[in-house]
Amino acid sequence: MDKLTVLGLESSCDDTAAAVVELTRAADGQVTGPGRVLASVVHGQTDLHAAFGGVVPELAARAHAEKLDLAVEQALSQAEVPLSAVDAIAVTSGPGLIGGVMSGVMCARGLAAGAGLPLIGVNHLAGHALTPRMTDGLEFPYLMLLVSGGHCQFLLVRGVDSFTRLGGTIDDAPGEAFDKCARLLGLEQPGGPAVEREARAGDPTAHRLPRPLLDRPGCDMSFSGLKTALLRARDGIVAQKGGLSVQDRADLCAAFQAAASDVLIEKTRRALDVAAGACGGQVPALAVAGGVAANTALRKGLQSLADARGIALVAPPLRYCTDNAAMIAWAGAERLAADLVEPQDLVPRPRWPL
Ligand code: KG4
Ligand code: ZN
Repeated sequence: MDKLTVLGLESSCDDTAAAVVELTRAADGQVTGPGRVLASVVHGQTDLHAAFGGVVPELAARAHAEKLDLAVEQALSQAEVPLSAVDAIAVTSGPGLIGGVMSGVMCARGLAAGAGLPLIGVNHLAGHALTPRMTDGLEFPYLMLLVSGGHCQFLLVRGVDSFTRLGGTIDDAPGEAFDKCARLLGLEQPGGPAVEREARAGDPTAHRLPRPLLDRPGCDMSFSGLKTALLRARDGIVAQKGGLSVQDRADLCAAFQAAASDVLIEKTRRALDVAAGACGGQVPALAVAGGVAANTALRKGLQSLADARGIALVAPPLRYCTDNAAMIAWAGAERLAADLVEPQDLVPRPRWPL
């Protein structure tokens, strides 16, 4: 049995993060998991972009370049691990905003060259997809539903380097749709938690919102039409009554949340069927990651789905579900353990499907 300690860096969107993670490898080379997160530092940029209604790539890249060294210093000091005791450095090399990805790769290159350490390029989506192994020691294969502000896809995870995309959104990500819904109703950002809070006092059947693409086979989803339907429902009320009451807002949020989670749950049911077909039998676990995985209505629906099939639902703690560097360090450690360190993975790639 040996231990691998990896420093991870993440800067592909609006979080500057560094983490130190330890992986244990058995004598036969197998990684059993879970891993040990020795430190995980995240510097968010929400305030920086708040006035612009979205992430501004140039501002993000500059802020990453300014904060990466600090994040690394903090992570190493919190972990009480000197750089010389680290086995490798892992960095997100895509997909994401190219300026931020380049800042991370440059920083990692400098550190690796200075300390004479191997450097591992990690796909950000692979980082999310492998997180349940770090937090729960989940074994392959499993189905991962990744639902955040930027991503929405089903991945059949069969190995460290074996991901099959079974479907995903053809337009907006669900988190993005929740954020737009909140904006249309005058609620604060990020919209997901605000919509969920309002929805508690609302009637999900007060408005009939569509369930896009449920009438079509397959695991693809669409969320942009939902936003348009919500806009129409809102304008209908405003035209009738001259404004929205507290109850109107709650009903609209409840109807929106019900529509979005119905689509995600029904498509997850289908993705589980497709995964079972591909694996020659039921996959033993369903895992979720991404900020939207915090939604209670969605979690309840996924739990019932998993219970009905007798499989486990694995939802890592939220701090490892949203963007972080521990997942990058872990994915790097898994690649190192499996001898999958490829120089071409270090080329910054704004687009990099799994
Ligand atoms: O994974 P994440 O932190 O960041 C990226 O998108 O990379 O996800 C953030 C998204 C936001 O769009 C936010 O509105 C959504 O996750 N979100 C939620 C909830 N909490 C966060 N959506 C629905 N319900 C929630 N409770
Ligand atoms: Zn992400």
